[in-house]
Amino acid sequence: MAQFQIVVLPGDGIGPEVVDEGLRVLEAVSQRFGHTFNLTQDLVGGAAIDAYGIALRPETAELCRKSHAVIWGAVGGPKWDDPQAPVRPEDGLLAIRKGLGLYANLRPVKVYPFLRDAGPIKPEVLEGVDMLVLRELTGGLYFGLPKKRWTTQRGRRGVDTMRYTELEIERILRVGFELARSRRKRLTSVDKANVLETSRLWRQIAQELSEEYSDVTVDHLLVDNCAMQLILNPSRFDVIVTENTFGDILTDEASVLAGSMGMLPSASLAGVPSHDGRRRARGMYEPIHGTAPDIAGQGKANPIAMVLSVALMLRYSLGLPGEADAVDKAVDKVLQDGLRTPDLITPGGHAATTNQMGQALADAVAAT
Ligand code: NAD
Ligand code: IPM
Ligand code: MN
Repeated sequence: MAQFQIVVLPGDGIGPEVVDEGLRVLEAVSQRFGHTFNLTQDLVGGAAIDAYGIALRPETAELCRKSHAVIWGAVGGPKWDDPQAPVRPEDGLLAIRKGLGLYANLRPVKVYPFLRDAGPIKPEVLEGVDMLVLRELTGGLYFGLPKKRWTTQRGRRGVDTMRYTELEIERILRVGFELARSRRKRLTSVDKANVLETSRLWRQIAQELSEEYSDVTVDHLLVDNCAMQLILNPSRFDVIVTENTFGDILTDEASVLAGSMGMLPSASLAGVPSHDGRRRARGMYEPIHGTAPDIAGQGKANPIAMVLSVALMLRYSLGLPGEADAVDKAVDKVLQDGLRTPDLITPGGHAATTNQMGQALADAVAAT
């Protein structure tokens, strides 16, 4: 029995819809295992811009700093998308990642056997797919300076800066090597070393570290080739480690393997956790998907990515691996029983709303 402080930031669009179901499952964990989760909710993203004029208030960030973990839904949407807007919902997400030092973004990509025919990829290609994409989250193009738009006599200009320090590259690669050691001991470092200086530095450091981690088999792949291999031969990958922008793009692609964007969870961490829960890391837990404006408010969103993110929180920030296993097993069971939100519907599947899926997952946790 333990007590935990958790900050809940639902955000916009389907963010609040999937967070509700994540919390329903967390409540089932609380009942089943006797823990107390003290939840504090706050507005972020577009909702915070509408209420306060900024996407993340300093007091919200402070609350997060004092908590054991943060649950994030998703932010953004057409209402705040004007390219001229002085403030954007996504600013809040970037600020919290940077502010909490959440440099390691773990994005596990697992293909459930019952979902092999849910997407457009041939089922035989999906056999044995179980990879972890580790995305560097507080550097690169997202944060490099200068970053601005301005007007010159010859027209408008914009600049973003791709910048990485040795420290930033080494620490994320070390997380990759450590995680590979607890898995199948294969690490693929993805870069664009044929063109970018930051990538050449990245590859050099990866090569140096590989001598220290000689039990891990390392290969280096250019990001364009990686994008192709992910679809052609996804089961070859164990741990992929890559910089911020590449990791963002490759994981939306990888979600097609899992059947839907609504299936991929993530953990954004400030350190290296252990799978058995003995070493904890401060973290924020968010599905990889966004606010899905095309389906928001219709009860169609798949809450599984959020629920699996709650499982990652139990494992990595709260040190509760048994409870995390119970949630993972609940997802297995409900999918095996044939329940499907509309993004996954296959012949013979039973259609479920966001709410029904969340309730079924909570019931399955209660029954473990
Ligand atoms: P998106 O991920 O919101 O949606 C892409 C497609 O996937 C849509 O067709 C959507 O319906 C579908 N989809 C996404 N999540 C789903 C779910 N749980 N269940 C079923 N289908 C799902 O990407 P987008 O439309 O490019 O972005 C919309 C907004 O979300 C943008 O403002 C973007 O900046 C923001 N965004 C926020 C986060 C975050 O806060 N973590 C992450 C990604 C995108
Ligand atoms: C993600 C999102 C964010 C990112 C956006 C909303 C800033 O796409 O978490 O994958 O690019 O990191
Ligand atoms: Mn993304």
